[in-house]
Amino acid sequence: AHPNVAIVGATGAVGVELIRCLEERNFPLSRLKLLASPRSAGKQMSFRGQPLTVDALDDASFDEVDLAFFSAGSGTSKAYAPKAVAAGAVVVDNSSAFRMDPACPLVVPEVNADSLAAHRGVVANPNCVAIIAAVPIAPLAQAFGLKRVQMATYQAASGAGAAAMEELRASTEAALRDASYEPRVLPHPYAFNLFSHNAEVDLETGYNGEEEKVIAECRRILDRPELPVGVTCIRVPVLRAHAIAMTLEFDRPVSPDEARAVLAKAPGVRIVDDRAANHFPMPSEAQGQGDVLVGRIRQDLSDPSGRSLALFVAGDQLLKGAALNAVQIAERLFAQATAAVA
Ligand code: A2P
Repeated sequence: AHPNVAIVGATGAVGVELIRCLEERNFPLSRLKLLASPRSAGKQMSFRGQPLTVDALDDASFDEVDLAFFSAGSGTSKAYAPKAVAAGAVVVDNSSAFRMDPACPLVVPEVNADSLAAHRGVVANPNCVAIIAAVPIAPLAQAFGLKRVQMATYQAASGAGAAAMEELRASTEAALRDASYEPRVLPHPYAFNLFSHNAEVDLETGYNGEEEKVIAECRRILDRPELPVGVTCIRVPVLRAHAIAMTLEFDRPVSPDEARAVLAKAPGVRIVDDRAANHFPMPSEAQGQGDVLVGRIRQDLSDPSGRSLALFVAGDQLLKGAALNAVQIAERLFAQATAAVA
């Protein structure tokens, strides 16, 4: 029999995409349960053309549930994921609650699907930047040996949830009318602006929580606990796709053509690298698609040894950065045969 599936946070930005990914990928399931906060109880949504009513999450929510996607924040995951596991479900958790827990595999299926087998009930879906970065970095690391990673991010509103996306729209409309707009969700004016990521800043190191996650999770996904990684995370006024400028230093000199050849065969990667047309990865083209776009593949001129390359990548934060990656994990857990046929 196919699994009974629950989505915790079904009404959120990622939750809505989870429902769509399950539909589009024809995920084999018997029943789907939509769960959210009491504010959303009774709300009507739909799945495969059938109306579905959202229930408030409670202790009995996981009776007869085999697979639970969580995307309702870290606190909800910490409180309810153990209850779901106790009720017999496997949890695929999109929050940061379990990502550094050695008992919970942190999985990007193209990169480290083999780590899934060791799960004890909870599989962690990585941070969106870590996923989008790992998809092109992993095959290059495998081919050439990776020494160091340096990144700057251009992160969309969607990473901060549906309310932040609405704030970007509303504040932009206000700015176009010359009206004032008081930020409610994000700490700074968003329209025609950008700012350092809104995660809390460590006063000692100067790094914010997003940067700390990206560094720790890239190391864990790539299985390189000591890998030197530096990152600066910036929120930009884009709705739902992240971009990353990255410089990768390898163990030996690597030409852009060699890297292109590896990336051309890498699962989950689409090369967008048309120098003549000045056409490279853009959020507007990354959004709505599952692949990570990779381009601007060129030598890093600050490293005369020829061992460093610069790349620009873009990926849909809500899809590969969150919902799609979670559903791909679930396919490996529950629906491998079906996914292989599809
Ligand atoms: P609700 O819509 O009822 O507030 P986003 O990331 O877009 O902000 O979405 C967060 C998701 O998590 C929403 O579906 C939200 O439900 C849900 N959520 C937030 N807090 C809780 C909670 N305490 N229990 C269950 N679901 C929650």
